[in-house]
Formats: sequence, structure tokens, C-alpha cells
Amino acid sequence: MKRAVLSSVVEAVGQTPLVDLSRITKGLKGRIFAKLEYLNPGFSKKDRFARQAIEDAEAQGLLKPGQTVVELTSGNTGTGLAIVCGVKGYPFVAVMSKGNSVERARMMRALGAEVVLVDQLPGSVRGRVSGGDLELVEKKTAHIVKKRRAFRADQFELESNFRAHYLHTGPEIISQAKGRLDAFCDFAGTGGTFAGCAAAFKKYDGKILCYLVEPKGAAVLAGKKVTRPGHRIQGGGYSKANLKFLRNKDIDGFIQVNDGEAIMCARRLAREEGIFGGFSSGANLAAALKLIKGPCRGKTICIVICDSGLKYLSTDLFK
Ligand SMILES: Cc1ncc(COP(=O)(O)O)c(C=O)c1O
Repeated sequence: MKRAVLSSVVEAVGQTPLVDLSRITKGLKGRIFAKLEYLNPGFSKKDRFARQAIEDAEAQGLLKPGQTVVELTSGNTGTGLAIVCGVKGYPFVAVMSKGNSVERARMMRALGAEVVLVDQLPGSVRGRVSGGDLELVEKKTAHIVKKRRAFRADQFELESNFRAHYLHTGPEIISQAKGRLDAFCDFAGTGGTFAGCAAAFKKYDGKILCYLVEPKGAAVLAGKKVTRPGHRIQGGGYSKANLKFLRNKDIDGFIQVNDGEAIMCARRLAREEGIFGGFSSGANLAAALKLIKGPCRGKTICIVICDSGLKYLSTDLFK
């Protein structure tokens, strides 16, 4: 239960609503529950990682008062860190590919972050951040961390990413769904949300099936060849085969979603359910619909609405 007056907006991270998408599943056998992570203060689930990473680092003595925090971001992690660091008094530098939408850089700057934008690889397209583009951002980030003797809030490496979802997102879903949960599917970036939630679900009930969602043409986690690295599902699908958080024992299957399916489902979420999410939220719904029409017919599936559609108004997602 949230307190009536919070000591800062950081305490408003988490405890998001879970909604039954009964308009979208009308006529289908089974239910889809959506966890509305876009209602976090930075309008994405990544606020959870930001809060956990900074609080864990403080508790472990890894972050000194006033020390600079740096992280590479597709915008959402940076926004979360800008909020948490701003409230707690740490300077924050966000390093982001120019391939991500401009709203994200503007929002981080508004929240007090220093934003460093990194050029994409020659031939890359705006709005499509590939694994190669991300490598350039990684190089720049490592350089800044060294130069500034900064704390790197590394979302691909820090256990806090897993912990944020294992300790909070997953248990919140179990409690809100009152145990009525058969399956979970999630579009992976770092894999932190998938891994943390899946571990919490498996601990609660080993029969809950957990599916990893990837872009069609860049499904390396499913062991497929990359034929289309420049997909449009921002926030993940980076063609990174070795993701630290993904443990095979918690992965029951893989689902691939193409750009068109993700876009169509993001639009359906908005129009039919009044839920204004981004591309990856659409990808999660598209995957859940594949499950409910296939192996999870008659079951209850949970998805995450990762971030807000407001972050994509400069794209054609909602044109
Ligand atoms: C919009 C969006 N969707 C999906 C993801 C992937 O989440 P995770 O890194 O937990 O796999 C991210 C991560 O930054 C994101 O910003």
C-alpha cells in the first residue's frame, strides 16, 4: 500500500495496475492481463531498475555521495536514472544512439541529465537501433565512465536489474492476479524483466510457462540467424546471444513477432483498451495473442506494457 504522502517521487515507482484486456480477448478462449508499467514516474518499467540499481549501489557502498552515474540507454533506463539521480543528488550522464526517438533525449535533459548522442553505423536507419549501433554506444559509455570515474548503472550486468523484477514486478503480478496465472511472455532487451518475473513465477508455481519474445529476423536467443537486425521494436531485440540474466531453465519457449504485428497490437491496445503503450508493448500483446490462439488456449497470460506511446509521437506508430 502506498503512503498518502511520499517522501519523493522515487517511492512512486512500482505498484502499477494489472488490467484484464477483456475487450481484446472477446471471443477468444483465455485471458490476457497487462501490467501497466507506463504509469511509473518516467513512463516506463525501467524506473524499477533505476531505483533498484541506485539503492543497491548505495547499500553496497559502490556509489559515493555526489559521484557521477553513467549508463547507455534507449531512453527509458536513462529517464528512470535521471529521475532517481536527480532526486538523490547524483549527476547523471545518459549515452544514447541517435537511432532512438527524440522525445527520449528531450525528456532526460528536462529531468537534469546530460545526454550524449552517438551516431549510428553508416547505413543504419533512424528509429531502428541494431546490435552494431549499440556496440558504438557501449564504447562511448565505457570511455565516459573511465574519464569521469563514474558509477556505471549497467543494466546488462548489474544484478539489480534482475532483482527489480524478481522482488517487485513478479510478486506484484502474482498478488494482483490472485494466483490465476498460467503463462507470461516478454520482449527481451537485457532480459532483466523476463528473467526476474520468470524466476518469481516459477518459485510461486513451477507450472507457469514463460516465453521469450524476439523480433522476427533477429531471434538469436531462439538460436536463429539474424536476417533483419534493423527491426522497429525499440528497447530490445539487439541480437545479443549471451544475455547474463537469461537462464535456460526458466525459458519454456520462444515467440517471434514482426514489426507490423507489434505496431498493429500497440494500436489495438490504444483504441480498444485505452492503453497507450509503445512498440514493445505491442510486441508483447502480439506474442500473447499467438499463445492464446495456440498452446495457451483457455489460459491466463500476463504481459507488461513496457512504456508510454507518448515516447513515440515523433514516429508513425500512432499516425
Ligand atoms: C520500451 C522497452 N521495451 C522493452 C525493453 C526490454 O526490457 P528488458 O531490458 O528488461 O529485457 C526495454 C528496455 O530498455 C524498453 O525500454
